[in-house]
Formats: sequence, C-alpha cells, structure tokens
Amino acid sequence: MKITILTGSNNLHGTSNTLVDEFIRGATEKGHEIKRFDTAHLNIHPCIGCNHCGMNGNCVFQDDMPKILDEIETSDALVLATPVYYFAMTAPLKASIDRFYSRTGRISRKRLKTAYIMTCWNTDDSTVEPLITHYKKLVDYMNYEDRGMIIGKGCGTTTMMPKHFLEDAYQLGKNI
Ligand SMILES: Cc1cc2nc3c(=O)[nH]c(=O)nc-3n(C[C@H](O)[C@H](O)[C@H](O)COP(=O)(O)O)c2cc1C
Repeated sequence: MKITILTGSNNLHGTSNTLVDEFIRGATEKGHEIKRFDTAHLNIHPCIGCNHCGMNGNCVFQDDMPKILDEIETSDALVLATPVYYFAMTAPLKASIDRFYSRTGRISRKRLKTAYIMTCWNTDDSTVEPLITHYKKLVDYMNYEDRGMIIGKGCGTTTMMPKHFLEDAYQLGKNI
C-alpha cells in the first residue's frame, strides 16, 4: 500500500513524531510505501472559504498543499498524527484538512484506510474525546475506513510516555 502521513507537531523528535517513526518502522517492514508530510514545517495556507475550487477543483493557493493532495489521491491509506493542543489537533494539521475541501469530490470517492495517532499530557478521557469525535465524523463523512487509533494519554514528553505506545504504533503500522 501507499500510505500518506500528515503530522501536526513542530517537534520532529517529540512524542507524536516518535510514535509516527514507530508506525513507519512497522509499515515499512510490511513493504508499504510511505509519503510523510510534516505540516508544521510546510507552507500550507488556511482555507479562506472563497469557493473558487467548488469542492472539486483547483485551490487559489498553490503552496505545498496541492502536492500533498496529489499523494492522497493516489494513496491507499492516510494517517493523521498530532499532539493535543487545547483539546484539538494542532493548527497546521487542521489547516491541511480544511484544504481537503478543494478535492473533496476526488479524495472521498475512494475508500481510504485511515489511522489516527495523538499524544497529550493529560491522562483523562475528556481531553481526547473531542479529537476522537472529530476523527470519527471525518472518517464517516469522507467514506474512509478507520484502521485504528493510538490515543497517547499521559504522553507529555518522550520520557514520560508509557513504553507500550511505541509497540502499539509499530503494530498499527504493521496491521493497517
Ligand atoms: C499550545 C499547547 C497546548 C496544549 N494543550 C494540551 C491539552 O489541551 N491537553 C493536554 O493534555 N496536553 C496539552 N498540551 C501538551 C502536549 O499535547 C504534549 O506535551 C504533547 O506530548 C506534545 O507533543 P509533541 O512532542 O509531539 O509536540 C499542549 C501543549 C501545547 C504546546
């Protein structure tokens, strides 16, 4: 499979990207091809809702997003990874997802497999509930197929991260 990964943290060696690295290790061992985009390090303008694209055309912003959408269009799976920022995904990742709008017709037509990796400091369910609800609605709306979530509660830093999350992410990469 070709798997596109969108990460949302600026910290390339932080908690969420550490789990992404483990996911990639598992997926690569299975022979999958990985296309990774670290959205916090790319030029991705927020959607301005001008509707120039008509939800199925060209966006007025010819930044880094069109090439990411090209990859998603030809992918079999899409993985989102983010730290929790104020009970939500980070702004760069959300900006990327909002830009799906310009290709909604094309990237919702195929039944992409999806996975979600999130990390946060807190250990309570209520911190991650808004992200899980949003992800499930997105998967449903886009006609995707959820293949699993890593809900990294208590992962405020790489040293405090419970070690089983590394194995969980590795296994998700193997089994997506
Ligand atoms: C702006 C900001 C907002 C945050 N909001 C939350 C939050 O709402 N709940 C939580 O448990 N942790 C929150 N955190 C902590 C991060 O989710 C946590 O440290 C995470 O491991 C950072 O991921 P990273 O290393 O991949 O960047 C926040 C951190 C920052 C910088």
